[in-house]
Amino acid sequence: MEDSKLAKLIKYFQKYNFVINDALIYNGLKNSWVYQPLFLTIKNLIKQKWIQEFVVNNRSILIETPIITNSMVYYGSKHIEKFQDFFVDCKVCKKRFRVENEDTKIKACPFCHSLKITKPRNFQLMFAVKKNKLEDNEFFYLRPETAQGIFVNYLKIAQANNLKLPFGIAQIGKSFRNEINLKNFLFRLREFEQMELEYFFEYSLDNFKNNFLKFKNLVLNFLLDLGLKESNIIINDVAAEKLAHYAQKTLDFEFKFSFGTFELCGLSYRKNYDLINHQNFSKQKLFYVNNDNQKIIPHVIEPSFGIERLVLAVIDQNLSFKNQRYCLNLPFFLAPFQVAILPLVKKLSNPALTIFDDLKKKYRVTFEDKKTIGKRYYYQDAIGTFFAICYDFDSLKDNQVTIRTRNNIHQERILISKIRNYIDNYVFK
Ligand code: GAP
Repeated sequence: MEDSKLAKLIKYFQKYNFVINDALIYNGLKNSWVYQPLFLTIKNLIKQKWIQEFVVNNRSILIETPIITNSMVYYGSKHIEKFQDFFVDCKVCKKRFRVENEDTKIKACPFCHSLKITKPRNFQLMFAVKKNKLEDNEFFYLRPETAQGIFVNYLKIAQANNLKLPFGIAQIGKSFRNEINLKNFLFRLREFEQMELEYFFEYSLDNFKNNFLKFKNLVLNFLLDLGLKESNIIINDVAAEKLAHYAQKTLDFEFKFSFGTFELCGLSYRKNYDLINHQNFSKQKLFYVNNDNQKIIPHVIEPSFGIERLVLAVIDQNLSFKNQRYCLNLPFFLAPFQVAILPLVKKLSNPALTIFDDLKKKYRVTFEDKKTIGKRYYYQDAIGTFFAICYDFDSLKDNQVTIRTRNNIHQERILISKIRNYIDNYVFK
């Protein structure tokens, strides 16, 4: 990771209050953030788009399962046994770093080049939470992926919703991982939000191939619909030895962030690994009876997204810094504010507010009457606002305002009654 590039991005996120450090009165907690309104608006807009494309258009259903569940779920899924990271410690500089597996041979510390380093040691990636019981050794596990809540309940969910194979069950929610490396801002968090779809189908080679291709295109189109450029996306077929324990095949969708190229989201073929393991471990029957009265364990294809990484990618790609000024060129639908109403001086706030009241019915609008008009324009550019409308003294006489478009800094004088037409023509033409 190019640390200086990432540091620049973090500076922007903090300067414009997308995030603030958590619990600063106690010196905070490393890589733990309070998400602010601008960030949350983008996050929620991404979720809405995902629901439209993966749930509604794909005729799947959206559910919510608990974050804390019966611990046996993670024995059954083999996360207790297999969901581990390996790390080594440098005995000289005391830095800890991740390695591929227990057989990885490291010659020297990558930070201080010392040869005094420990052998790889394993580290359970799930957070164990003590149960409210006297026994010391009983734990809950915070879910490391939303998927298991779907697998262990899939039959009941299918019955409750009258689902016939093939069907998709989707979920959005927080997941937790006890990550070692907490340097990489929103890219690697201890708690993050996932959007996952488990698509259950009856296996045949053709079914697998067709559905995998269908979801590959769905994932790619979703990323493009968020305005991410195809030239910034690399699809990487993960090598067999690097697959997660549950995956038979995985495509990583990598993104060219300013600080390096890294995984943005993934598409995995999980076969019937999870259902078979849960069936064996729980000793409950998890087969589905198909139309020919055969008992089958469906196979699963899973597109999985981390939302914080998506917000990071969207902002990173669209952010520019020129002449000491930031400009965030977000697409119209992702802009936290689509329109800003800026009276030239505070005295003009009342008539300008009538425009705000009208436009807020249709767009996400902000109103700002403090500071000079120039500073307010620059601020709106920096947070991604698409149009800025200035109400000045002439507006009182001619019922016109100046509308400024962020993308090209084009300014035009238009009648107040024509603002909606102007915006819609520009955006939806
Ligand atoms: N259910 C499959 C699964 O969880 P994963 O590749 O481990 O697969 C899916 O995670 C996505 O979740 C990743 O592509 C990434 O977007 C996001 N993600 C995973 N770990 C993360 C972390 N520590 N911080 C932020 N996002 C993370």
